[in-house]
Amino acid sequence: MYKIAVIAGDGTGPEVVKEGLKVLSELSKKNGFKYEIVEYDLGGERYLKKKELVPDSVLKELSIMDAIYLGAIGHPDVKPGILEQGILLKLRFHFDQYINLRPVKLYPGVWTPVKDKGPDDIDFVVVRENTEGLYKGMGEFQKKGTKDEVALQISHNTRKGVERCVRFAFQYAKKRNKRKNLTLVGKTNVLTYAWDLWDRTFNEVRKEYKDIKTNYAHVDATCMWMIKNPEWFDVIVTDNMFGDIITDLGAMIQGGMGIAAGGNINPEGISMFEPIGGSAPKYTGKNVINPLAAICALGMMLESLGEKASADMLERSVMKVTGEKLKSLSAGKMGYSTAEVGDLVVKNL
Ligand code: IPM
Ligand code: MN
Repeated sequence: MYKIAVIAGDGTGPEVVKEGLKVLSELSKKNGFKYEIVEYDLGGERYLKKKELVPDSVLKELSIMDAIYLGAIGHPDVKPGILEQGILLKLRFHFDQYINLRPVKLYPGVWTPVKDKGPDDIDFVVVRENTEGLYKGMGEFQKKGTKDEVALQISHNTRKGVERCVRFAFQYAKKRNKRKNLTLVGKTNVLTYAWDLWDRTFNEVRKEYKDIKTNYAHVDATCMWMIKNPEWFDVIVTDNMFGDIITDLGAMIQGGMGIAAGGNINPEGISMFEPIGGSAPKYTGKNVINPLAAICALGMMLESLGEKASADMLERSVMKVTGEKLKSLSAGKMGYSTAEVGDLVVKNL
């Protein structure tokens, strides 16, 4: 019996999560696993009403769950940063979800802005470090408010943090068993402390994975290659900030935020799965948002729970729906409503 925490969250979060849960329910019937859902009303509304982000009591309850399924966090009436840091980053850090796993895969029938590239060319995974780097929140102001003001924002990289991330990436490349190619993406030519540590760690760990081909690319060049030659990539490993940036680019080449999913993973603890797009306030309640990203996030959750057959079934169904049904992945242009897209995925399982 899996205990699954559901944080539907803000904006279109609840609408897309609802479709994911439809798919979960059908898969459990088909494949015979059992689960229990516990819902949490974390998000902008709760914050505005109670001035509460993630209470300790909720953290305690979440700590006995098998996984967390998240819709979206972000509310137009809350100052930017509060909910992101107070809920999303809080959960990532609290549960030490040190990997942010983001597949960039172009499904059949999906339009990509990259000319002459198709599903055979765009199929890689970004392993983003998820608890350190610039996200650590280290820094300070000096002489704040004066004309000599200085703001420091420190990228905090630990040997242990870098090593566990790099190791995960090697293991993932091995398990993925496609091109067995791992690219370290960084900025060794300028950021000579952080990327020296990453580079040294990468080169030490790779000795244990002789069957994995390795290479290195600067992050700016990576943005170029992701458009020009996306087929070069199999697995990318990078730090928190670079991973944040290149996965938005990745989402665009795989067809947009309507399809991009991610997992915040603690391989030894509690992981959290989410569509990587935001709460899309302007589409809220209209039944037009694309639920596929949330459905794909659910697939990643099933895979991490060990329900590989269900995860594969889900992905095949999504590929059928994108290949044969949807006109577009964009909100309002799919040719179907949010709920109908969920139904299509259920029907094609
Ligand atoms: C993401 C988001 C978050 C991040 C924000 C909302 C804090 O952009 O999941 O990529 O920067 O990690
Ligand atoms: Mn981001």
